[in-house]
Amino acid sequence: MAVTTEKLVGLLNMDLELEYSAAIQYINHAAVMTGAAYGDIIKELRIHANEEIQHAMILSNQIDYLGGSPSINVGKILTSMDNDEMLQEDLDGEEDAIKRYRARIAQAEELKEFALAQQLRNILAVEQEHAMDLKQALGK
Ligand SMILES: [Fe+2]
Ligand SMILES: [Fe+2]
Repeated sequence: MAVTTEKLVGLLNMDLELEYSAAIQYINHAAVMTGAAYGDIIKELRIHANEEIQHAMILSNQIDYLGGSPSINVGKILTSMDNDEMLQEDLDGEEDAIKRYRARIAQAEELKEFALAQQLRNILAVEQEHAMDLKQALGK
């Protein structure tokens, strides 16, 4: 299955929508999470929210560069009344992002879009840090 620029733009737009939803989800979770034991992770969630917005900016610019129209839609957002359930929702999202960006890097390289691949590698490294923060908070 050879990837085309058009296909890659479509996939990057899905990634972009999920960056927007991740940012909103983190803002929501940081706001509603309670309990002294969660103080440190609440601070981390706020940092994650800002980093997801940075990813959205990078992806928007790259999609435009590739000749596409950056999506302004927002992906699915999950919340809960339970702290650990919220952290699990966030971890699931990060693990999905890690899988998607691994695939996206390979697709960008297949098209010899090496600058894009480099940007995606930087995003992937941040998503891995996010997953580690969440695992630690969940005692995993
Ligand atoms: Fe992200
Ligand atoms: Fe993330």
